[in-house]
Amino acid sequence: MRTQVAIIGAGPAGLLLAHLLHLDGIESVVIEARSQHYAENRIRAGVLEHHVVDVLDQTGLGARMHREGLRHEGTGLLFGGKLHRIDFQALVGQSVMVYGQHEVVRDLIAARQAAGAPLLFECADVLVSGFQGGSPEVRFTQGGQAHTLHCDVIAGCDGFHGVCRPALPPGSWRGYDRVYPFGWLGILADAPPSAEELIYANHERGFALCSQRSPTVQRLYLQCAPDEEVEAWSDDRIWSELGTRLACDGFQLRTGRIFQKGVTPMRSYVAEPMQCGRLFLAGDAAHIVPPTGAKGMNSAVADVLLLSRAIGRWYGSGDDAGLEGYSAAALRRIWKVQRFSWWMTTLFHRFDGASDFDRRVQLAELDYVVGSREASAALAENYVGLPLT
Ligand code: FAD
Ligand code: DHB
Repeated sequence: MRTQVAIIGAGPAGLLLAHLLHLDGIESVVIEARSQHYAENRIRAGVLEHHVVDVLDQTGLGARMHREGLRHEGTGLLFGGKLHRIDFQALVGQSVMVYGQHEVVRDLIAARQAAGAPLLFECADVLVSGFQGGSPEVRFTQGGQAHTLHCDVIAGCDGFHGVCRPALPPGSWRGYDRVYPFGWLGILADAPPSAEELIYANHERGFALCSQRSPTVQRLYLQCAPDEEVEAWSDDRIWSELGTRLACDGFQLRTGRIFQKGVTPMRSYVAEPMQCGRLFLAGDAAHIVPPTGAKGMNSAVADVLLLSRAIGRWYGSGDDAGLEGYSAAALRRIWKVQRFSWWMTTLFHRFDGASDFDRRVQLAELDYVVGSREASAALAENYVGLPLT
Protein backbone atom coordinates (compact mmCIF):
# COMPACT_ATOMS: atom_id res chain seq x y z
CA MET A 1 0.00 0.00 0.00
CA ARG A 2 1.16 3.52 -0.69
CA THR A 3 -0.24 6.95 0.12
CA GLN A 4 1.03 10.50 0.53
CA VAL A 5 0.17 11.02 4.21
CA ALA A 6 -0.37 8.23 6.74
CA ILE A 7 -2.54 9.46 9.60
CA ILE A 8 -2.52 7.48 12.83
CA GLY A 9 -5.72 7.98 14.86
CA ALA A 10 -9.31 8.90 13.95
CA GLY A 11 -10.00 11.43 16.69
CA PRO A 12 -10.74 15.05 15.85
CA ALA A 13 -7.07 15.71 14.92
CA GLY A 14 -6.63 12.79 12.51
CA LEU A 15 -10.05 13.04 10.89
CA LEU A 16 -9.89 16.80 10.36
CA LEU A 17 -6.36 16.57 8.97
CA ALA A 18 -7.55 13.93 6.50
CA HIS A 19 -10.47 16.17 5.51
CA LEU A 20 -8.30 19.27 5.01
CA LEU A 21 -5.76 17.32 2.94
CA HIS A 22 -8.54 15.80 0.85
CA LEU A 23 -9.88 19.29 0.04
CA ASP A 24 -6.34 20.18 -1.04
CA GLY A 25 -6.14 17.13 -3.34
CA ILE A 26 -3.68 15.27 -1.09
CA GLU A 27 -4.21 11.55 -0.45
CA SER A 28 -4.12 10.06 3.00
CA VAL A 29 -4.98 6.85 4.81
CA VAL A 30 -6.37 7.07 8.35
CA ILE A 31 -5.46 4.14 10.61
CA GLU A 32 -7.54 3.82 13.80
CA ALA A 33 -7.19 1.27 16.58
CA ARG A 34 -10.82 1.27 17.74
CA SER A 35 -14.14 0.55 16.00
CA GLN A 36 -16.24 3.16 14.21
CA HIS A 37 -18.95 2.73 16.84
CA TYR A 38 -16.47 3.41 19.64
CA ALA A 39 -15.01 6.49 17.91
CA GLU A 40 -18.47 7.92 17.28
CA ASN A 41 -19.70 7.43 20.82
CA ARG A 42 -16.69 8.47 22.91
CA ILE A 43 -17.99 11.30 25.12
CA ARG A 44 -15.49 14.08 25.63
CA ALA A 45 -15.23 17.82 25.08
CA GLY A 46 -18.09 20.15 24.23
CA VAL A 47 -17.06 23.74 23.50
CA LEU A 48 -15.86 24.89 20.07
CA GLU A 49 -13.90 28.14 19.78
CA HIS A 50 -15.21 30.61 17.20
CA HIS A 51 -12.25 30.06 14.81
CA VAL A 52 -12.90 26.33 15.00
CA VAL A 53 -16.54 26.92 14.09
CA ASP A 54 -15.27 28.96 11.11
CA VAL A 55 -12.96 26.14 9.98
CA LEU A 56 -15.79 23.61 10.13
CA ASP A 57 -18.03 26.03 8.21
CA GLN A 58 -15.45 26.79 5.55
CA THR A 59 -14.73 23.11 4.96
CA GLY A 60 -18.36 22.06 4.52
CA LEU A 61 -18.80 20.51 7.97
CA GLY A 62 -20.97 23.14 9.63
CA ALA A 63 -24.57 22.28 8.65
CA ARG A 64 -25.53 19.95 11.52
CA MET A 65 -23.44 21.92 14.01
CA HIS A 66 -25.49 25.05 13.26
CA ARG A 67 -28.76 23.10 13.46
CA GLU A 68 -28.03 21.23 16.66
CA GLY A 69 -25.24 23.19 18.37
CA LEU A 70 -25.89 25.92 20.93
CA ARG A 71 -24.26 29.32 20.39
CA HIS A 72 -23.15 30.89 23.68
CA GLU A 73 -22.34 34.58 23.89
CA GLY A 74 -21.09 34.47 27.46
CA THR A 75 -20.44 32.26 30.45
CA GLY A 76 -21.23 32.27 34.15
CA LEU A 77 -18.60 32.33 36.88
CA LEU A 78 -19.90 31.39 40.33
CA PHE A 79 -18.01 31.99 43.56
CA GLY A 80 -18.89 33.08 47.07
CA GLY A 81 -22.46 32.02 46.28
CA LYS A 82 -22.84 34.75 43.59
CA LEU A 83 -23.14 34.25 39.87
CA HIS A 84 -21.31 36.67 37.52
CA ARG A 85 -21.52 36.81 33.75
CA ILE A 86 -18.62 37.21 31.34
CA ASP A 87 -20.14 38.66 28.18
CA PHE A 88 -17.95 37.38 25.33
CA GLN A 89 -19.89 39.26 22.70
CA ALA A 90 -19.64 42.64 24.46
CA LEU A 91 -16.02 42.15 25.50
CA VAL A 92 -14.43 40.65 22.40
CA GLY A 93 -17.23 40.45 19.82
CA GLN A 94 -17.17 36.63 19.54
CA SER A 95 -19.06 33.62 20.82
CA VAL A 96 -18.49 29.87 21.20
CA MET A 97 -20.50 26.85 20.10
CA VAL A 98 -21.52 24.05 22.44
CA TYR A 99 -21.47 20.93 20.25
CA GLY A 100 -20.18 17.57 21.53
CA GLN A 101 -16.85 16.31 20.29
CA HIS A 102 -18.40 12.99 19.26
CA GLU A 103 -20.81 14.92 17.00
CA VAL A 104 -17.82 16.58 15.30
CA VAL A 105 -16.24 13.14 14.93
CA ARG A 106 -19.47 11.75 13.42
CA ASP A 107 -19.61 14.62 10.91
CA LEU A 108 -15.97 14.06 9.95
CA ILE A 109 -16.39 10.29 9.55
CA ALA A 110 -19.50 10.86 7.40
CA ALA A 111 -17.58 13.31 5.16
CA ARG A 112 -14.64 10.92 4.82
CA GLN A 113 -16.86 7.98 3.96
CA ALA A 114 -18.95 10.05 1.54
CA ALA A 115 -15.72 10.96 -0.26
CA GLY A 116 -14.85 7.24 -0.48
CA ALA A 117 -11.47 7.99 1.11
CA PRO A 118 -9.63 5.36 3.16
CA LEU A 119 -10.45 5.24 6.87
CA LEU A 120 -9.45 1.96 8.48
CA PHE A 121 -10.92 0.97 11.84
CA GLU A 122 -9.86 -1.78 14.24
CA CYS A 123 -6.19 -1.75 13.26
CA ALA A 124 -3.75 -3.39 15.68
CA ASP A 125 0.03 -3.57 16.22
CA VAL A 126 0.56 -0.14 14.62
CA LEU A 127 4.25 0.63 14.19
CA VAL A 128 5.76 3.75 12.59
CA SER A 129 9.32 3.74 11.21
CA GLY A 130 11.62 5.17 8.54
CA PHE A 131 10.60 8.77 9.22
CA GLN A 132 14.19 9.89 9.88
CA GLY A 133 15.30 8.61 6.48
CA GLY A 134 13.51 9.06 3.18
CA SER A 135 11.02 6.20 3.45
CA PRO A 136 8.48 6.50 6.23
CA GLU A 137 6.21 3.50 6.68
CA VAL A 138 3.47 2.25 8.94
CA ARG A 139 3.02 -1.42 9.70
CA PHE A 140 -0.23 -2.69 11.16
CA THR A 141 -2.63 -5.59 11.14
CA GLN A 142 -6.33 -5.49 10.36
CA GLY A 143 -8.62 -8.50 10.56
CA GLY A 144 -5.56 -10.69 11.20
CA GLN A 145 -3.82 -9.52 7.99
CA ALA A 146 -0.48 -7.71 8.13
CA HIS A 147 -0.07 -4.53 6.05
CA THR A 148 2.72 -2.08 5.30
CA LEU A 149 1.74 1.44 4.27
CA HIS A 150 4.49 3.43 2.53
CA CYS A 151 4.12 7.22 2.61
CA ASP A 152 5.87 10.59 2.44
CA VAL A 153 4.69 11.90 5.79
CA ILE A 154 3.34 10.33 9.00
CA ALA A 155 0.92 12.36 11.11
CA GLY A 156 0.79 11.10 14.70
CA CYS A 157 -2.78 11.97 15.74
CA ASP A 158 -3.11 8.97 18.05
CA GLY A 159 -3.83 10.73 21.32
CA PHE A 160 -1.92 10.77 24.58
CA HIS A 161 -1.58 6.97 24.84
CA GLY A 162 -0.68 6.37 21.19
CA VAL A 163 2.45 4.90 19.61
CA CYS A 164 3.80 7.93 17.72
CA ARG A 165 5.19 10.07 20.54
CA PRO A 166 7.04 7.08 22.07
CA ALA A 167 8.49 6.41 18.59
CA LEU A 168 10.41 9.71 18.69
CA PRO A 169 14.09 8.84 19.24
CA PRO A 170 15.14 9.18 22.90
CA GLY A 171 17.14 12.36 23.40
CA SER A 172 15.48 14.12 20.44
CA TRP A 173 12.60 15.50 22.53
CA ARG A 174 11.39 16.09 26.04
CA GLY A 175 8.05 16.26 27.83
CA TYR A 176 6.91 19.04 30.19
CA ASP A 177 4.42 17.70 32.69
CA ARG A 178 2.13 18.78 35.51
CA VAL A 179 -0.27 16.33 37.11
CA TYR A 180 -3.12 17.78 39.17
CA PRO A 181 -4.21 16.11 42.41
CA PHE A 182 -7.83 15.85 41.26
CA GLY A 183 -10.03 14.76 38.37
CA TRP A 184 -13.50 15.47 36.98
CA LEU A 185 -16.50 13.23 37.32
CA GLY A 186 -18.56 13.97 34.19
CA ILE A 187 -22.18 12.98 33.60
CA LEU A 188 -24.77 13.21 30.85
CA ALA A 189 -28.38 13.43 31.99
CA ASP A 190 -31.80 13.54 30.39
CA ALA A 191 -32.79 16.97 31.63
CA PRO A 192 -33.21 20.39 30.04
CA PRO A 193 -30.42 22.92 30.71
CA SER A 194 -30.44 24.35 34.24
CA ALA A 195 -28.97 27.60 32.91
CA GLU A 196 -28.85 29.31 29.52
CA GLU A 197 -25.06 29.43 29.57
CA LEU A 198 -22.29 27.37 31.18
CA ILE A 199 -21.52 27.94 34.86
CA TYR A 200 -17.99 27.43 36.19
CA ALA A 201 -18.27 27.21 39.97
CA ASN A 202 -15.62 27.69 42.62
CA HIS A 203 -16.99 26.14 45.83
CA GLU A 204 -15.20 25.26 49.03
CA ARG A 205 -16.20 21.60 48.48
CA GLY A 206 -14.58 21.73 45.04
CA PHE A 207 -15.18 22.80 41.44
CA ALA A 208 -18.42 22.15 39.54
CA LEU A 209 -19.38 22.87 35.93
CA CYS A 210 -22.88 23.08 34.55
CA SER A 211 -22.86 22.55 30.79
CA GLN A 212 -25.32 21.19 28.28
CA ARG A 213 -25.60 19.35 25.01
CA SER A 214 -29.10 20.03 23.71
CA PRO A 215 -32.51 21.29 24.85
CA THR A 216 -33.02 17.89 26.52
CA VAL A 217 -29.53 16.79 27.61
CA GLN A 218 -27.27 18.29 30.26
CA ARG A 219 -23.52 17.78 30.75
CA LEU A 220 -22.26 18.35 34.28
CA TYR A 221 -18.93 17.90 36.04
CA LEU A 222 -17.70 17.68 39.65
CA GLN A 223 -14.15 17.90 40.94
CA CYS A 224 -13.27 14.52 42.47
CA ALA A 225 -10.19 12.44 43.31
CA PRO A 226 -8.12 11.59 40.20
CA ASP A 227 -8.60 7.87 40.82
CA GLU A 228 -12.21 8.15 41.96
CA GLU A 229 -14.34 5.02 41.45
CA VAL A 230 -17.44 5.96 39.46
CA GLU A 231 -19.35 3.37 41.50
CA ALA A 232 -18.81 5.52 44.61
CA TRP A 233 -21.11 8.12 43.05
CA SER A 234 -24.76 7.15 43.12
CA ASP A 235 -27.13 9.35 41.11
CA ASP A 236 -28.49 10.82 44.34
CA ARG A 237 -25.02 11.71 45.58
CA ILE A 238 -24.16 13.38 42.26
CA TRP A 239 -27.31 15.51 42.18
CA SER A 240 -26.92 16.45 45.83
CA GLU A 241 -23.28 17.50 45.38
CA LEU A 242 -24.07 19.45 42.19
CA GLY A 243 -26.96 21.16 44.00
CA THR A 244 -24.63 22.24 46.81
CA ARG A 245 -21.76 23.44 44.63
CA LEU A 246 -23.93 25.25 42.06
CA ALA A 247 -26.35 26.88 44.54
CA CYS A 248 -26.97 30.58 43.89
CA ASP A 249 -29.87 33.00 43.63
CA GLY A 250 -32.28 32.18 40.83
CA PHE A 251 -30.55 28.91 39.88
CA GLN A 252 -32.50 25.70 39.94
CA LEU A 253 -30.73 22.45 39.14
CA ARG A 254 -32.81 20.39 36.73
CA THR A 255 -32.30 16.70 37.43
CA GLY A 256 -33.11 13.64 35.35
CA ARG A 257 -31.90 10.17 34.41
CA ILE A 258 -28.10 9.98 34.35
CA PHE A 259 -27.11 7.85 31.36
CA GLN A 260 -23.34 8.32 31.27
CA LYS A 261 -20.71 8.73 34.01
CA GLY A 262 -16.92 8.88 33.72
CA VAL A 263 -13.85 10.14 35.57
CA THR A 264 -11.10 12.12 33.79
CA PRO A 265 -7.76 12.66 35.54
CA MET A 266 -6.23 16.09 34.88
CA ARG A 267 -2.81 16.98 33.61
CA SER A 268 -0.91 19.55 31.60
CA TYR A 269 1.65 18.08 29.21
CA VAL A 270 3.68 19.29 26.23
CA ALA A 271 6.15 17.32 24.10
CA GLU A 272 8.86 19.40 22.43
CA PRO A 273 9.58 19.35 19.56
CA MET A 274 6.43 17.88 18.04
CA GLN A 275 8.27 16.42 15.07
CA CYS A 276 11.20 14.30 13.97
CA GLY A 277 12.12 13.87 10.30
CA ARG A 278 8.83 13.20 8.50
CA LEU A 279 6.85 12.29 11.63
CA PHE A 280 4.63 15.10 12.96
CA LEU A 281 2.56 14.95 16.16
CA ALA A 282 -0.77 16.76 16.45
CA GLY A 283 -3.41 17.10 19.16
CA ASP A 284 -3.32 15.03 22.34
CA ALA A 285 -0.41 12.97 20.95
CA ALA A 286 1.72 16.07 21.58
CA HIS A 287 -0.02 17.91 24.40
CA ILE A 288 -2.73 17.60 27.04
CA VAL A 289 -4.53 20.36 28.92
CA PRO A 290 -6.73 20.11 31.99
CA PRO A 291 -10.28 20.54 30.67
CA THR A 292 -11.16 23.68 32.66
CA GLY A 293 -10.66 26.02 29.71
CA ALA A 294 -12.35 23.64 27.20
CA LYS A 295 -9.23 23.69 25.03
CA GLY A 296 -8.33 20.05 24.25
CA MET A 297 -10.19 19.52 21.00
CA ASN A 298 -9.71 23.15 19.91
CA SER A 299 -5.93 22.77 20.21
CA ALA A 300 -6.06 19.63 18.09
CA VAL A 301 -7.84 21.63 15.37
CA ALA A 302 -5.23 24.43 15.55
CA ASP A 303 -2.39 21.91 15.09
CA VAL A 304 -3.86 20.16 12.07
CA LEU A 305 -4.74 23.42 10.36
CA LEU A 306 -1.09 24.40 10.58
CA LEU A 307 0.11 20.94 9.57
CA SER A 308 -2.25 20.65 6.60
CA ARG A 309 -1.05 24.02 5.29
CA ALA A 310 2.59 23.00 5.72
CA ILE A 311 2.00 19.71 3.90
CA GLY A 312 0.05 21.49 1.14
CA ARG A 313 2.88 23.99 0.64
CA TRP A 314 5.43 21.20 0.44
CA TYR A 315 3.50 19.24 -2.19
CA GLY A 316 2.53 22.44 -4.01
CA SER A 317 5.95 24.07 -4.38
CA GLY A 318 8.51 21.77 -2.78
CA ASP A 319 9.00 24.38 -0.05
CA ASP A 320 9.43 22.56 3.25
CA ALA A 321 9.77 25.67 5.46
CA GLY A 322 6.26 25.13 6.86
CA LEU A 323 7.04 21.53 7.74
CA GLU A 324 10.40 22.40 9.27
CA GLY A 325 8.81 25.19 11.29
CA TYR A 326 5.64 23.26 12.24
CA SER A 327 6.55 22.45 15.83
CA ALA A 328 7.85 25.94 16.65
CA ALA A 329 4.74 27.57 15.19
CA ALA A 330 2.35 25.16 16.93
CA LEU A 331 4.11 25.46 20.29
CA ARG A 332 3.80 29.25 20.35
CA ARG A 333 0.03 28.86 20.51
CA ILE A 334 0.04 25.72 22.62
CA TRP A 335 1.96 27.28 25.50
CA LYS A 336 -0.51 30.17 25.64
CA VAL A 337 -3.36 27.67 25.74
CA GLN A 338 -1.50 25.71 28.42
CA ARG A 339 -1.18 28.86 30.47
CA PHE A 340 -4.88 29.65 30.18
CA SER A 341 -5.97 26.10 31.02
CA TRP A 342 -3.61 25.94 34.02
CA TRP A 343 -4.84 29.37 35.18
CA MET A 344 -8.54 28.46 34.91
CA THR A 345 -7.81 25.21 36.75
CA THR A 346 -5.94 27.00 39.52
CA LEU A 347 -8.64 29.63 39.83
CA PHE A 348 -11.57 27.25 40.21
CA HIS A 349 -10.40 24.09 41.96
CA ARG A 350 -9.98 23.24 45.60
CA PHE A 351 -6.38 22.27 46.31
CA ASP A 352 -5.97 20.02 49.35
CA GLY A 353 -3.45 21.62 51.65
CA ALA A 354 -4.24 25.14 50.45
CA SER A 355 -4.12 27.57 53.37
CA ASP A 356 -6.82 30.06 54.29
CA PHE A 357 -4.50 32.69 52.80
CA ASP A 358 -4.37 30.79 49.47
CA ARG A 359 -8.16 30.56 49.46
CA ARG A 360 -8.54 34.31 50.07
CA VAL A 361 -6.16 35.06 47.21
CA GLN A 362 -8.12 32.71 44.91
CA LEU A 363 -11.38 34.49 45.71
CA ALA A 364 -9.72 37.91 45.31
CA GLU A 365 -8.50 36.92 41.86
CA LEU A 366 -11.99 35.79 40.84
CA ASP A 367 -13.39 39.06 42.18
CA TYR A 368 -10.78 40.95 40.15
CA VAL A 369 -11.59 38.98 36.99
CA VAL A 370 -15.30 39.77 37.14
CA GLY A 371 -14.78 43.35 38.39
CA SER A 372 -12.23 44.54 35.85
CA ARG A 373 -13.23 44.98 32.24
CA GLU A 374 -9.65 44.31 31.15
CA ALA A 375 -9.40 41.10 33.17
CA SER A 376 -12.83 39.92 31.97
CA ALA A 377 -11.79 40.66 28.40
CA ALA A 378 -8.57 38.67 28.83
CA LEU A 379 -10.59 35.67 30.01
CA ALA A 380 -13.09 36.12 27.16
CA GLU A 381 -10.35 36.50 24.53
CA ASN A 382 -8.71 33.24 25.58
CA TYR A 383 -11.98 31.37 26.06
CA VAL A 384 -13.44 32.17 22.63
CA GLY A 385 -10.04 31.26 21.23
CA LEU A 386 -6.74 32.85 20.23
CA PRO A 387 -6.08 32.99 16.47
CA LEU A 388 -5.53 29.46 15.19
CA THR A 389 -2.31 30.11 13.27
P1 FAD B 1 -8.04 11.60 20.52
O1 FAD B 1 -9.42 12.16 20.51
O2 FAD B 1 -7.54 10.96 21.74
O3 FAD B 1 -7.89 10.66 19.28
C1 FAD B 1 -6.81 9.78 19.12
C2 FAD B 1 -7.28 8.58 18.34
O4 FAD B 1 -6.16 7.73 18.10
C3 FAD B 1 -8.30 7.75 19.07
O5 FAD B 1 -9.40 7.47 18.23
C4 FAD B 1 -7.55 6.49 19.46
O6 FAD B 1 -8.39 5.35 19.53
C5 FAD B 1 -6.55 6.40 18.33
N1 FAD B 1 -5.35 5.61 18.65
C6 FAD B 1 -4.68 5.55 19.82
N2 FAD B 1 -3.63 4.74 19.71
C7 FAD B 1 -3.63 4.28 18.45
C8 FAD B 1 -2.79 3.40 17.73
N3 FAD B 1 -1.74 2.81 18.31
N4 FAD B 1 -3.08 3.15 16.44
C9 FAD B 1 -4.14 3.73 15.85
N5 FAD B 1 -4.98 4.56 16.49
C10 FAD B 1 -4.71 4.85 17.77
N6 FAD B 1 -11.31 18.35 26.41
C11 FAD B 1 -12.10 19.38 26.67
O7 FAD B 1 -11.84 20.47 26.17
N7 FAD B 1 -13.18 19.21 27.50
C12 FAD B 1 -13.49 18.00 28.06
O8 FAD B 1 -14.47 17.86 28.76
C13 FAD B 1 -12.69 16.91 27.80
N8 FAD B 1 -12.94 15.68 28.31
C14 FAD B 1 -12.09 14.65 28.05
C15 FAD B 1 -12.32 13.38 28.61
C16 FAD B 1 -11.41 12.32 28.39
C17 FAD B 1 -11.68 10.95 29.01
C18 FAD B 1 -10.27 12.53 27.59
C19 FAD B 1 -9.28 11.41 27.35
C20 FAD B 1 -10.07 13.78 27.00
C21 FAD B 1 -10.96 14.85 27.23
N9 FAD B 1 -10.77 16.12 26.66
C22 FAD B 1 -11.58 17.14 26.94
C23 FAD B 1 -9.72 16.37 25.73
C24 FAD B 1 -10.20 16.30 24.28
O9 FAD B 1 -11.23 15.38 24.16
C25 FAD B 1 -8.98 15.92 23.47
O10 FAD B 1 -8.08 17.00 23.55
C26 FAD B 1 -9.28 15.57 22.01
O11 FAD B 1 -9.93 14.33 21.93
C27 FAD B 1 -7.97 15.53 21.22
O12 FAD B 1 -8.20 14.98 19.95
P2 FAD B 1 -7.10 14.06 19.27
O13 FAD B 1 -7.65 13.70 17.96
O14 FAD B 1 -5.78 14.71 19.36
O15 FAD B 1 -6.96 12.79 20.21
C1 DHB C 1 -17.49 21.14 28.59
C2 DHB C 1 -16.25 20.65 28.88
C3 DHB C 1 -15.28 21.50 29.35
O1 DHB C 1 -14.06 21.03 29.63
C4 DHB C 1 -15.54 22.83 29.56
O2 DHB C 1 -14.58 23.64 30.05
C5 DHB C 1 -16.79 23.33 29.26
C6 DHB C 1 -17.78 22.48 28.78
C7 DHB C 1 -18.53 20.23 28.08
O3 DHB C 1 -18.23 19.04 27.96
O4 DHB C 1 -19.65 20.67 27.83
